Parts: sequence; C-alpha cells; structure tokens
Amino acid sequence: MPQPHALLVDDDPSVLSSLAELVEREGFRTSVAPTLEAARAAIAAHAPDVVLTDLVLPDGNGIDLFQDLNGATQVVLITGHASVDTAVEALRMGASDYLTKPVDIPRLKSVLANILRTRQLKEEIGTLRTELRKLGRFGQLIGASPAMQRVYDLIGRVAPTDATVLLTGESGTGKEVVAQTIHALSKRAKEPFWPLNCGAVSPNLIESELFGHERGSFTGADRLHRGYFERSNGGTLFLDEVTEMPLELQVKLLRVLETGTVTRLGGEQAVAVNVRVIAATNRPLEDAVSEGKLRTDLLYRLKVFPVQLPPLRERGDDVELLATHFLSLLNQAEGTSKTFAHAALQRLQRHSWPGNVRELKNLIHQAFILADSEIGADCLPPEVGGAPTAAGPSLQLTVGTSLADADRRLILATLEEFHGDKKKAAEVLGISIKTLYNRLAEYREADG
Ligand SMILES: Nc1ncnc2c1ncn2[C@@H]1O[C@H](COP(=O)(O)OP(=O)(O)OP(=O)(O)O)[C@@H](O)[C@H]1O
Ligand SMILES: [Mg+2]
Repeated sequence: MPQPHALLVDDDPSVLSSLAELVEREGFRTSVAPTLEAARAAIAAHAPDVVLTDLVLPDGNGIDLFQDLNGATQVVLITGHASVDTAVEALRMGASDYLTKPVDIPRLKSVLANILRTRQLKEEIGTLRTELRKLGRFGQLIGASPAMQRVYDLIGRVAPTDATVLLTGESGTGKEVVAQTIHALSKRAKEPFWPLNCGAVSPNLIESELFGHERGSFTGADRLHRGYFERSNGGTLFLDEVTEMPLELQVKLLRVLETGTVTRLGGEQAVAVNVRVIAATNRPLEDAVSEGKLRTDLLYRLKVFPVQLPPLRERGDDVELLATHFLSLLNQAEGTSKTFAHAALQRLQRHSWPGNVRELKNLIHQAFILADSEIGADCLPPEVGGAPTAAGPSLQLTVGTSLADADRRLILATLEEFHGDKKKAAEVLGISIKTLYNRLAEYREADG
C-alpha cells in the first residue's frame, strides 16, 4: 500500500505546522490548508486518506467538507471548545472520529492507528470484491447472484464499524458464516469470536453463561465463572437464535447493551465490557414479536444494522456454484476427481431448497458417496428437482373443513410452492389465471 496521505485544515499556521510534524511521525505524508477553499483544492489534488479539520474556518465550517469527499476519505474533526454535541453530530454525519484542542498526543496516535486499520480493512474488502467478480466468492462465502452481492455490500459497509448487526434468514442460509465474515473483516479480527446458541442452552443456565457468576452465588457455583460477555471482551459475541432467550433475560441483555457493563450473578459490581454483538434468528421478526418471543425494545436495540439473507431458491445460478464448490472440497479431501452430470445439475437447479445451503451441502455429500466417478441424477433423492406436484409439500385437512376453506388453503399453498408465480400455480391447480386473481382478491377482502 502506498504511504497514507493526511490533509490538515486549520486557520492557525502554528497549529498546522505542529500537527503536521506529529502526523508525519506516524507515517503519513501531509498537506495543509488554512481555508475550506484551499482544502477543496488539496482534496482534488491528493485524494487524501484522511482529513483532519478544524470546525471553525474563515470561510465556513469543517463539516461542509463532507460534501467534497467520496467514501474513501475519512474525516477527523478537531474542535476547539470541546463541544461534544457538534462532535456527536459529526460522527452521525460520517466522521470517523474527533479530537479536542489542545491535541492530546496518545489520543492522536490512537486515532491515526484506527484510520490506518480502517484503510487496510477497506483495502481487504476491495480485494474481496475483485475476487468476487472473478470467482464468485466473498471470503468464505460462495455466491455471485445479485441477492448475495447485496449482502456482501452490507457486510463490507458494516464490518469495519462497531455497530450491532441483526442477521435474519431461513435455516441454513449462512447466518453463522456471515457473522464470522463480519468479525474477520473488523478491527476485532484478532480478538475472540464467541458463538452462543441461545436455543441450545437450558433457560436456567443461560443467564450465568452470558453474564457469569460469582463463587457461591447458587448451589454448585463453587468458583467464579466468567460469562460469554466477559470472554468476548475486545471481540465479537454471536448470539444465535436470540428469540429463544427467556424474556426476562432479554431485559437484562438490553441493559448490558445499553450500559456496556455486566454484573455477574450474585455479584455487586458492574464490569465494563467492550463487545460487539451480532445476533441471529431464523424466525421472521414480526412473528417473533407478535408471538411474544422477542421484546420490541430489544429488537430495536439489535436492529441497528439488519442484514437479511436470501433463501437459496432466490439465488439463481449460485446453486451450481455452491454445488461445484462443495464437490471440489470433497474431491480434495478424498483425493478423487468426481464430476457432475449435466442432468444432476439441472435437477439441483430446479429444486426449491427448503433447507437452503445446508441442505445442498448435505445432499452433495450423500451424492458424492453414492457416485463412482460421475454424479448422475440417479444419485439424488427423487424429490430433489423432481415433479413438484408429486413430491412437494402436502396439506393436511381435518374433516369438517369447508370446501371454500380447503380451496383457499390449497390455492395459497400452491402459490407459495411456486414462490408467487401465479401463472404456474394456476396451471397446476387447473384454473384460469383470471380465476386465481379473483380468488386472491376475495381473500384479501375477507382479511380486510
Ligand atoms: N454462501 C455460502 N457459501 C459457502 N458455504 C455456505 C454458504 N452459506 C452457508 N454455507 C454453509 O452451509 C451450512 C449452513 O450455514 P449456517 O450454519 O451459517 O446457516 P444458518 O443460517 O446459521 O442456519 P440455522 O438458522 O439453521 O442456524 C454451513 O456448513 C455453512 O458453512
Ligand atoms: Mg446458525
């Protein structure tokens, strides 16, 4: 990477020269500007990595420079009169950090180190993007479909920040891999990543698992136990299946997120923790809230940056890309060179993948074991990409259901099976598309 460039903007020449000396000592090239106008010229000429600017300038406000910058340049504001409000406002507008005058040298060093680290992360993300165009992969994640590219964009944006991320998506869509990718592309990458599956820990243990306990805080607590929050200090905590956490614990979790401190069970003192939280659930959020599985206040706190993973059936050709990837991993591990027959790939492409990538991965493994050298369609279970009406999902009707109700359920289920494709659904149901539209309008009306 070329030497980083810093532009320093201040109307006081003595501030500029002493600041320049300090910043150069940290490995930056510098240029200086006493006014907004000069700063704009310098931005155009040097495309600096960072602009350190005073707030109050002869021809305007340092914040005005945001308009002249593209996403590649970071801004650090220097405020004369420790006006924290303005600084907070600036952070909200996209500034990376702020310093107060007189500039504290250790603080300046840490701000600049952070700038360099962020620059490096952006560079890494840029490399991943290039790789994505060439190979259809983003780090550990395989897939080049537009739906996945949107996910990569979001990951690229949120990873370098400390924002809480909420991952949603059906089972097997890759939420855990995404959480790991976000951690790996964050400033915390060298610190621990701890996953905790809230659904897999018994409800009466989960509190002490998360927050820890003091010795003697309950029968059997024979020594001090540090919880996941303390163990993840400096790093990332992945709260999987967060909707499975008992509601009263969700209140406590909210408090921890808001105060940045945990109190161990049976403990008196709050311990400060610096943890980035990534939460995940495979339930639709509205359902989780309306079924009373997730508190609204916690949802809002977690939803700072939501990322929804698309189901595999909405990823087009990614199915083939993933299948080939999993096959080549197996070939490598087993020292074989098995390939797919065209017919098998066609069947994979047609399948609706209720279990998403996990289902695909398991299926390729089975087919790999069954096949000699070529994986043919006969190595796949018949329901995979077979005729959907023969082996698709089924409806259960209790005797006593009215015909109208049975009609309605069959129509809606069929539509769902074809992912809303009305033409196909009407064809399979043996009704005209017009009838289908009429029915759907009736149902909408009945539901008000
Ligand atoms: N885009 C992808 N590229 C490569 N492998 C993937 C991708 N998405 C998922 N996988 C693999 O598929 C499997 C399931 O992924 P993962 O465990 O992350 O899903 P999940 O969304 O957390 O599912 P659940 O809701 O059931 O916990 C894992 O083995 C993972 O490595
Ligand atoms: Mg998971």
